[in-house]
Amino acid sequence: MINFEQKGHYQGLINRYKEYLPVTDTTPIVTLNEGNTPLIKADNLAKKIGLDEMNCEIYLKFEGANPTGSFKDRGMTMAVTKAKEAGAKAVICASTGNTSAAAAAYAAKAGMKAYVLIPDGYIALGKLSQAMMYGAEIIAIKGNFDEALERVIEISEKYPITLVNSVNPYRIEGQKTGAFEICEALGDAPDYHFIPVGNAGNITAYFKGYEEFLALGKTSHLPKMMGFEAEVAAAIVKGERIMKPETIATAIRIGNPASWKQAENARDKSGGIINYVTDEEIVEAYKLIAANEGILCEPASAASVAGVIKAKKLGLIEENKNMVCILTGNGLKDPDSAIKYSGCEVKKTSAELNDILKVMDL
Ligand code: F0G
Repeated sequence: MINFEQKGHYQGLINRYKEYLPVTDTTPIVTLNEGNTPLIKADNLAKKIGLDEMNCEIYLKFEGANPTGSFKDRGMTMAVTKAKEAGAKAVICASTGNTSAAAAAYAAKAGMKAYVLIPDGYIALGKLSQAMMYGAEIIAIKGNFDEALERVIEISEKYPITLVNSVNPYRIEGQKTGAFEICEALGDAPDYHFIPVGNAGNITAYFKGYEEFLALGKTSHLPKMMGFEAEVAAAIVKGERIMKPETIATAIRIGNPASWKQAENARDKSGGIINYVTDEEIVEAYKLIAANEGILCEPASAASVAGVIKAKKLGLIEENKNMVCILTGNGLKDPDSAIKYSGCEVKKTSAELNDILKVMDL
């Protein structure tokens, strides 16, 4: 038998960060070798945005490189591992798509059943196809994410089914490891941390990770936490629940974030902000990232970079600083948006060389 660990093969984030996570030597780890995602220096983007003139550096943490294509895998390896340890047979979640894909995948790996509640008609196709193939029970409701979350909380309280939304504290534990990876890669915490905000679990998790590394003396400071909601779903910014959230970034189409208070805490303790970006700003950033850095993220993920552009305009970025943007999900999950917003026209012609050269203007 091959012993991967002996060969130094990466074994997923629970193995990597055991000492900072609530696991023991007998915990049955459910992993798809998630985490260890690329942190990519984005010099072309820095130039486009005008950050180079301020002597600022921008790094993109591409969470789309996780096994199911989003940061949710970090939280799900922990949540499903702990569910398995507790003897659970089934998990349930509400989702705008990515959580359902991750829950379904890790449940499949653990030999558990997964129930997922999604807002009917508002899920990117790739995400839906993932949950289908991983074998989840998919229930599409005539309602939005916030309503789906209320229902799954009720169900998990009445039936022996483990809730794996980010209100499950193990999700936050797994997701905080993203902050550890960033600090290790940069040798310290970044100056600014830009992140999309939907249900607000991820900003909560990253802040926890940064706080823990600071307390351990591994870093010298906390980054300013810069969270960005979508304009017509910006509950935290507006200070009230949004009953009908709307945005092309369906992943963050959430009007009543479960970790609202924790997100405000991260903002306030770090000296950061929670602001919003419009759909137009999201699309602009989505295209800039792909065309200048060769990274296709999903629209919601681009809210982090759209946030940098907005923060710079507002004069919130100081000179000689570095910043990390979390690109939360893989753009391949949402080919409809990519095709729609690329502005690319596919040129069609015969298979004759002369015809092809003509189309190429050669
Ligand atoms: N980016 C992507 C791609 C997401 O899928 C989500 C959330 C977020 C950002 C926001 O993260 O909720 O922790 O503030 N997606 C959840 C889901 C709601 O069901 O997949 P958050």
